[in-house]
Amino acid sequence: MSRFFKSSIGRKVAMALSAFFLMFFLLQHFAINILSVFSADTFNEVSHFMGTNPLIQFVLQPVLIFGVVFHFVMGFILELKNRSARNIAYVKNNGSANSSWMSRNMIWSGVAILAFIILHFIDFWFPEINTKFIEGDWSGMHGGELRYFHELQEKFVSPIRVGAYVLAFVFLALHLLHGFTSAFQSMGATAGRKKTLQNIGKAYSILIPLGFIIIALYHHFNHIH
Ligand code: HEM
Repeated sequence: MSRFFKSSIGRKVAMALSAFFLMFFLLQHFAINILSVFSADTFNEVSHFMGTNPLIQFVLQPVLIFGVVFHFVMGFILELKNRSARNIAYVKNNGSANSSWMSRNMIWSGVAILAFIILHFIDFWFPEINTKFIEGDWSGMHGGELRYFHELQEKFVSPIRVGAYVLAFVFLALHLLHGFTSAFQSMGATAGRKKTLQNIGKAYSILIPLGFIIIALYHHFNHIH
C-alpha cells in the first residue's frame, strides 16, 4: 500500500481523493455560509450546532485539517516531481499548445489559496479556538444573542479584506476549473462521459466561488452596526 502511494500514479490518486474530500467540504461550507444571506437566525443556529457538536469538533474537524494539509503537501511534492521529470522528459514543453494555463499553474493558484486559508484561519478559526478552548466559553452567546452572524458581518467591513477574499475566490475558481476534471481522470473516469464531467466541473468551479464572492460582497454592503 505504501509503495502504491509512493508511485507517481499512487500520488495522483491520493491527490484526487483528498481533492474530492475538500470539494465536498467546500460544498457544505458554501451551503451553510449562504444561509447568512437569507436568515441571520438560521445561520446562527447552524453555526452553533457545527461549532459545538462533539462529532464535528473532535472527529470531522481534525480529519478536515489533515485533509487540507495533506492536499498542500502532496501538491508541492507532485509539482517538484513533475518539474524534475519534465527537465529530462520534454525537450520542448510547448506551453499553451498542449495544456491549459490553469493546468500548468495549479501550484500558483494553490499557493494563493493557501495564503487565503492562513488569512481565513486568522479571521475565523483562531478566534473560535480561543473562545472555546482558552476562554472555555461554549455558549455561543454574546450580548444576549448567538454571536456568529455578527462576527461574520464584522469580518466583511474592511474593503481590503473583502478584496483579498474576492481575489482568492477567483484563484479558487481557476484551481477548480482544472482540478475538478483532473481529479476524476486520476480516478480513471472514462472518456465516454468526459463532456458531461467537464460541464459539471465547469458549473461547480464557477458557481461555488461566485457564490462565496456574493456572500462576501453582500455582507460588505449590508452591514448594519
Ligand atoms: C465568504 C466566504 C467564506 C466565509 C464567510 C467563511 C466562513 C467561515 C467560518 C465562519 C468558519 C468557522 C470557523 C470555526 O468555527 O472554526 C470557517 C472555517 C473554515 N473555512 Fe471558511 N468561509 C468562506 C470561504 C471559504 C473557502 C473558499 C474555503 C476554502 C478554500 C474555506 C475554508 C475553510 C476552512 C478549511 C475552515 C476550517 C473549518 C473548521 O475546521 O472549522 N472557507 N469559514
